[in-house]
Amino acid sequence: MAFNYISAAEAASLIKHGYNIGLSGFTPAGTAKAVTAELAKIAEAEHAKGNPFQIGIFTGASTGDSCDGVLSRAKAIRYRAPYTTNSDFRKAVNSGEIAYNDIHLSQMAQEVRYGFMGKVNIAIIEACEVTPDGKIYLTAAGGIAPTVCRLADQIIVELNAAHSKNAMGLHDVYEPLDPPYRREIPIYKPSDRIGQPYIQVDPKKIVGIVETNWPDEARGFAEADPLTDKIGQNVADFLAADMKRGIIPSTFLPLQSGVGNIANAVLGALGRDKTIPAFEMYTEVIQNSVIGLIRDGRVKFGSACSLTVTNDCLQGIYDDMDFFRDKLVLRPSEISNSPEVVRRLGVISINTAIEADLYGNVNSTHIGGTKMMNGIGGSGDFTRNAYISIFTCPSVAKEGKISAIVPMVSHADHSEHDVNIIITEQGVADLRGKSPKERAQTIIENCVHPDYKNILWDYLKLTDGKAQTPHALRAALGMHAELAKSGDMKNIDWAQYK
Ligand code: COA
Repeated sequence: MAFNYISAAEAASLIKHGYNIGLSGFTPAGTAKAVTAELAKIAEAEHAKGNPFQIGIFTGASTGDSCDGVLSRAKAIRYRAPYTTNSDFRKAVNSGEIAYNDIHLSQMAQEVRYGFMGKVNIAIIEACEVTPDGKIYLTAAGGIAPTVCRLADQIIVELNAAHSKNAMGLHDVYEPLDPPYRREIPIYKPSDRIGQPYIQVDPKKIVGIVETNWPDEARGFAEADPLTDKIGQNVADFLAADMKRGIIPSTFLPLQSGVGNIANAVLGALGRDKTIPAFEMYTEVIQNSVIGLIRDGRVKFGSACSLTVTNDCLQGIYDDMDFFRDKLVLRPSEISNSPEVVRRLGVISINTAIEADLYGNVNSTHIGGTKMMNGIGGSGDFTRNAYISIFTCPSVAKEGKISAIVPMVSHADHSEHDVNIIITEQGVADLRGKSPKERAQTIIENCVHPDYKNILWDYLKLTDGKAQTPHALRAALGMHAELAKSGDMKNIDWAQYK
């Protein structure tokens, strides 16, 4: 079939007020960019004329500025799910302008299929190749692309020359059936391939191909610093010790690791620790550090949803595809983050907390209990089902005015039932097999910053100390209230709660 080659502006004009669009990509990697950038201009023009223009956006995870950024600033987003990281989007959400549905990333594709979020009118898919018989070859991420391609009335393909055609073959596209017909996802090791290297669509649904040359809007990483290095070393030492005592098999287990600088530091430390054998990753995002570890032979295989790497790193992978082809696979997010597969493979999960409480509940998403930071991402998919679930964070934030360990989290994403280990630069709290009261002791002793240890011991003295989970309810958010009042949690005076 001969395709219709159109401009990004022409493609954007197909999107009407009230539509829901579904995008390829996962993080800025592999996300369609050109059409949403043009759509913002249409929204602004319509708003200038006094017309309403807002849409719903379904993605695999966060996007780049060309989607969440420009569309937030153009006030063109009515509804958005799931994870985001854009600061303008964050401002719009926290000022009540956007309906944001922060769900687990593994659930996004199926909740769209189940019809929980309404119809998908148009899918916009970034590809490195599309064939006349409707085979779409994705670029640097799997996301929810297979699902939105199947459900959408129309598909726009952004054929992006910034991604090499060497990306063909990286993907393993597999979409499960919905209940009651769903079967097991037959992945028994991270390197198993169970689907096709492309998305097959009806070519008649492809209403336009937009040719672009737009690199992924990748974020750089901060230089390693002593704090993140210490946290990374604590994680590596903990895992090495658990392997030595036989809790982790000597062949090791696949790792999941979150995004950001702590994750990079953790992987760096694991790579350096030669007592840990070369390992595999079953994770959602592969960052630069993993690519380095694959080149060094320290990571044997990486299964992920996206290559969230810097553009020079991505180009290096494309240029070296003969080396990487049997060491990497990209999957749709419902497979990369599948709770069933995570549990079966015995994945060790490592994610970052905003705050944790004395009993092991973790807040990953909300600042001060009300303001959205980014979202839960895949942290819940992995944590709940992990062989060992780890959360890391610095013991304090904002020059020590905030303790990351508080009596009660101001928002709960991961409950005490799911969190095994908390690691700060101070040390490691192993919560496995412990009662809530035992957990509180080990968290204060090992993870809390020295400035806050007595404050937290004193909090426990306010409780009767006997209940299953001792709390002084009026005081439980007292440190947060103190922060709001004086700007420093250390100023808390528990006497007011006696
Ligand atoms: N109270 C208030 N602010 C806090 C805080 C707290 N308890 N803890 C951290 N912060 C602030 C930091 O000061 C920083 O602020 P800044 O941007 O103004 O400098 C910001 O939150 C980010 O913290 P940082 O220490 O830089 O951590 P990070 O970049 O590693 O992000 C999360 C941490 C939790 C926000 C991030 O990991 C996330 O979004 N996680 C949820 C999704 C997830 O886990 N995905 C994993 C699968 S990929």
